[in-house]
Amino acid sequence: MNSYGEFALLYDDLMDDFDYVAWSEYIQNILIRNGFGKTSILEMACGTGNLTKELLRLGHTVDGFDLSHEMLAIANNKLSSYKSKRLFNMDMKEFKMDRKYQAVVSACDSINYILDEASLKRTFSSVFQHLEEGGIFVFDINSEYKLKEILGNNIFIEDRDDVFYTWENQFDIGTGICDFYLTFFISDNGTDYRRFDEHHREKSYDVETVKSLLSEAGFSETCVYNAFGFEDITNESERINFVAKK
Ligand SMILES: C[S@@+](CC[C@H](N)C(=O)[O-])C[C@H]1O[C@@H](n2cnc3c(N)ncnc32)[C@H](O)[C@@H]1O
Repeated sequence: MNSYGEFALLYDDLMDDFDYVAWSEYIQNILIRNGFGKTSILEMACGTGNLTKELLRLGHTVDGFDLSHEMLAIANNKLSSYKSKRLFNMDMKEFKMDRKYQAVVSACDSINYILDEASLKRTFSSVFQHLEEGGIFVFDINSEYKLKEILGNNIFIEDRDDVFYTWENQFDIGTGICDFYLTFFISDNGTDYRRFDEHHREKSYDVETVKSLLSEAGFSETCVYNAFGFEDITNESERINFVAKK
């Protein structure tokens, strides 16, 4: 069972409660606070290109990559009018670009898809190598609290006109990994439904571990915020935003 295969076709519809305009404005705010104007950005795990589109609209130069061909195909259609953008099929754990950037961005808990500390450190080192001096790395994670207490060991069900899906989650305290078993029933006519399944895995990382891995990768300074603002995190923060400086 793969992840972001056939689900890619439903992703944008099922993410309709995510405000990517507001998300891009938050990132824009972070860029401005760090002294950047129109910025060269590499977006890791860009998915279907929702944030990519908003960052391009704000006038930034954006290259993106993702592991899923299906997600990239949708991004490619969505971004066809932006001739300057480039999209690649690559893995965050071992990516290589032909240039450096002023900012690397990764949104919507994509970093939690990296399932061990050694791989996370390798990813952070690659990001560091792809940043210009003074460049920043902006990313968010689902907090341990959210994966363990809200999503983990819970079942979610959504019933829409043409898609019914269930989301059964198991959080393993030993590994800190949350397994998401998604089952979709989709219909073209509202009568006949076809089933497909996906298995996603996200690992929870505590903030101190992430900060020390960033520091080991070479980053000089890391700020941590409760997304989508600039306040400190609390024990019940669900999405944690990091800004690491080269
Ligand atoms: C929750 S989605 C977020 C997509 C996009 N960033 C957004 O904001 O909508 C997670 C994305 O991470 C991608 N992904 C997971 N593991 C990856 C990896 N090792 N390298 C690159 N992309 C990865 C998935 O294919 C998926 O598109």
